[in-house]
Amino acid sequence: MPRAIISPSVLASDFGQLTAECKRMIKGGAEWLHMDVMDGHFVPNITMGAPILKCVSKGVPGIFMDCHMMVAEPEKWVDDIADAGGALYCFHLEATKNPLSLIDAIHAKGMRAGVAISPDTPSTAISDEVGGAADMLLVMTVYPGRGGQKFLERCVPKVSDLRARFPEKDIEVDGGVGPNTIEQCSHAGSNVIVAGTAIFNATDPEKVIAQLKASVNA
Ligand code: DX5
Ligand code: ZN
Repeated sequence: MPRAIISPSVLASDFGQLTAECKRMIKGGAEWLHMDVMDGHFVPNITMGAPILKCVSKGVPGIFMDCHMMVAEPEKWVDDIADAGGALYCFHLEATKNPLSLIDAIHAKGMRAGVAISPDTPSTAISDEVGGAADMLLVMTVYPGRGGQKFLERCVPKVSDLRARFPEKDIEVDGGVGPNTIEQCSHAGSNVIVAGTAIFNATDPEKVIAQLKASVNA
């Protein structure tokens, strides 16, 4: 299985101190930072877009921004996110008709490409061709739209299925993941772990990051 990567979701951070919050997470052992971009269309909420990501990448040298694009037209933002310093562009399979050409466009801008599936989308919706072209597959373990929701156990078998089909790919889980739910995710084969409230609300975020990592590496 690929190496463990912890990607704290900044949605649970203090947005007024966003660069400081990202630095705090990197210091605490996080490899990536998970940036939740919401457009008010694909999901009801609006969070942040390329201008804010650009400030973060300037303010936090070397940051790896794992951009989770909860947007209705993912084709539209590839250039802006790349220019803002995005390292990985993860779009929702439900939001596009042409996942393969979108993956090509993301790669052409020098970013890694991720494909996300919401709780009601089966893992079989990711074809061998699309999964093979992507760098990362994201199994949502809550309905996209906000942080702090309850982990949906019924999504875990999708992780096992994707790990069996794509042994070399990064497989990310996102939503309600923390010390109480990590074991099921890591056993199923997820190696990229997103956690928002479980890390940012912890008294010792460094300890939680280490705990999540240890579970993947066990
Ligand atoms: C939900 C977002 C998640 C969320 C995770 O739409 O994609 O990244 O912020 O937050 P927690 O870990 O609190 O569920
Ligand atoms: Zn997310």
